[in-house]
Amino acid sequence: MTEVGIPTEERIRRALDHLRNDTTDEYEHLTWFEPNEFVDPAVAKLERDRVFGRVPTIVAHGSEIPKPGDFFTLQMPRNNVIVVRQRDGSVKTLVNQCRHRGAMVEKEEKGRCRLFSCPYHRWSYDTDGTLRTITRDNTFGDADRDNRNLVQLPTEERHGFIWVVDDADASIDVADWLGPEMDAILASHDLGSKVTTRVNVFEEPVNWKLMQDAFLDGYHIQYAHPNTAAKHIHTNVMAFEDFGHHCRFMNLRKTIDRWIEEDPGDRDLVEHTTETHFLGPNSTLLRQPDHYQLLTFRPHPTDPQQSRMEIRLICPTVEDSGLTEERYNRLWDKNVEILIAVLHNEDFPILRDSQRAMASANAGNMVLGRNEVANQVFRREVQKLVGQD
Ligand code: FES
Ligand SMILES: [Fe+2]
Repeated sequence: MTEVGIPTEERIRRALDHLRNDTTDEYEHLTWFEPNEFVDPAVAKLERDRVFGRVPTIVAHGSEIPKPGDFFTLQMPRNNVIVVRQRDGSVKTLVNQCRHRGAMVEKEEKGRCRLFSCPYHRWSYDTDGTLRTITRDNTFGDADRDNRNLVQLPTEERHGFIWVVDDADASIDVADWLGPEMDAILASHDLGSKVTTRVNVFEEPVNWKLMQDAFLDGYHIQYAHPNTAAKHIHTNVMAFEDFGHHCRFMNLRKTIDRWIEEDPGDRDLVEHTTETHFLGPNSTLLRQPDHYQLLTFRPHPTDPQQSRMEIRLICPTVEDSGLTEERYNRLWDKNVEILIAVLHNEDFPILRDSQRAMASANAGNMVLGRNEVANQVFRREVQKLVGQD
């Protein structure tokens, strides 16, 4: 397989050199920033409109709605939506609002249906959003039916994921947004052949960028996770690649330590690494030895101090894994359990408190270091989008 960007083993050796020298890849400068980025409703509105209303973000893996009529509902930053598999296999995203007098047509979080039927006066819509029936049509009058379909948002399935731009007037081109490098990297992981085995959702009183930042940060491991993650992963050592809207970095596991002194030659060292992809603007995709974790962060539709985090385990199918169903389930349950314990006990308390701290009337400005290179890219890209009219 031809590799995209710098070959894996070369990146591992660069990270290993950093480990030997107590260095890491660095951004070109420090960046000072203000607490209002995390508390100001005007900033949050610009982010919803100019980030989520403009670029594709992942809402799920396609395996979560495999059959026609399978749907889930979701609060996006700008729209409450239904994401639904069509009879032709494509996916549509519909604004979850009846075009009669605005009731929410679908209340369930997830399900399979043949049509969406409004609870208020029972108008119904096809799963592609087309208005099907106006109840007591003979007395209603001419409602201009063709303009009473559910509103659609631009949606595309690519690399196994469902992507949505949260604005009905926008267009979508996921490959263009990913750019040639990240598009090829995602293709190389063959994520479309895998399935979501676990989804966990957290609504936290924390700005979405504070949340996202914690999962691009290789600097906090030893300090915030001394007895968990830091036992396995080295702190403040990464081999980094910048792809513009996106980036990728490799962290070293402690199992690599024998190769600090000894020369590994051309030995394959990939098992001693984790690789993180930042899929701008709001997801982190981690490659683990036997699966992927996708972490997604979405702002609350009105409150800058709240967000929603979704964790997905993207795994080989039971058949591809070669495991019995029972062992397969046990494996992923265990995986999620460990991950969630670290988040709950270690990351979230710090993040909730930093949100409160930043809301202080006299909260001072802050600074991102050169070593916090993925966080620098994340902030740079959000700022770029927000700054564009
Ligand atoms: S609001 Fe939906 S049928 Fe009246
Ligand atoms: Fe953490």
